[in-house]
Amino acid sequence: MTDISCSFAGVSLKNPIVMASGTFGFGKEYGALYDINKLGGLSGKGLTLHPKAGNDGIRVAETASGMLNSVGLENPGIAAFLREECPRWETLHLARIVNLGGNTIDEYVEGARLIDEDAAWRKREGRTAVDMIELNISCPNVKAGGVAYGIKTDIARQVVREVRAATSLPLVVKLSPNAEDIVGMAVMCQEEQAEGVSLINTFSAMKIDITKRRSVFDNMYAGLSGPAIKPIALRMVHQVCQAVTIPVMGMGGISSAEDIVEFIMAGAAVVQVGTYNFVHLRAGEQLVDDLTAWMSREGIQTLDEIRGIL
Ligand SMILES: Cc1cc2nc3c(=O)[nH]c(=O)nc-3n(C[C@H](O)[C@H](O)[C@H](O)COP(=O)(O)O)c2cc1C
Repeated sequence: MTDISCSFAGVSLKNPIVMASGTFGFGKEYGALYDINKLGGLSGKGLTLHPKAGNDGIRVAETASGMLNSVGLENPGIAAFLREECPRWETLHLARIVNLGGNTIDEYVEGARLIDEDAAWRKREGRTAVDMIELNISCPNVKAGGVAYGIKTDIARQVVREVRAATSLPLVVKLSPNAEDIVGMAVMCQEEQAEGVSLINTFSAMKIDITKRRSVFDNMYAGLSGPAIKPIALRMVHQVCQAVTIPVMGMGGISSAEDIVEFIMAGAAVVQVGTYNFVHLRAGEQLVDDLTAWMSREGIQTLDEIRGIL
């Protein structure tokens, strides 16, 4: 019998397939297409303390084997999420992850505190809507002139330390491939008592409109995702898995069961799937079925048999 269940940071998952932040909304629209309770989990759209309108101009563009996005974290804000989305999240049977962003340490901390307070209140009433927080440190640090927190380990350490102190929910830190030292960053997260790390976020990239002789994006650069980044993401996940003992969520370009197996063999505890949701609207459901079929064809009973096998 094939068993693809696993656990991450003390949370049990039916399977290792989690939908990546920013590519699955809060699960409502995809939930109208298929039963999302088949998934291992979902990470909601990145949330900030206050609502954000997002970037002006073109927000997404296709590129060879991938896409560029410059959404600018458009989101309703944490209070609206807790009020309007959490009653539905309470009814879901999969790992529910809040992706938390912020432009200052105070914003991150206040955001984490609100989510934690809400979780504690629901728990007292025997309910749960959020199982863990995924801390997105790729946001621009307004006080440091817009350089992302996720680039320098020392600056990221401050955010991780203070958010860690603000919540008792399991904390997973999402790492940027644009970090100066992604392995050092992962080690820092472990030192600061994060329960896990997830990687990778998008690569800083660009596309030029040669007729207009300007960048396609108002913000000049955009984030590259999809199959184009998979081999680099896999290498980074492998390196991080060698350096830390906390569990890793691996992602970047996953679009087949075989891709998932590669990330698990590199050492990932679970994986996330992003851009592929735009290619195939029922991607999650298909990947769960394909992974189960692949394992039974190969005579593998549990993911532990192949995890980190390299
Ligand atoms: C349109 C879009 C929006 C995204 N928004 C977020 C976000 O809000 N927070 C976050 O941590 N990552 C965000 N990401 C990054 C993805 O979660 C993921 O890390 C990245 O796309 C790599 O995985 P993939 O190649 O499977 O898409 C976004 C990606 C895309 C394509």
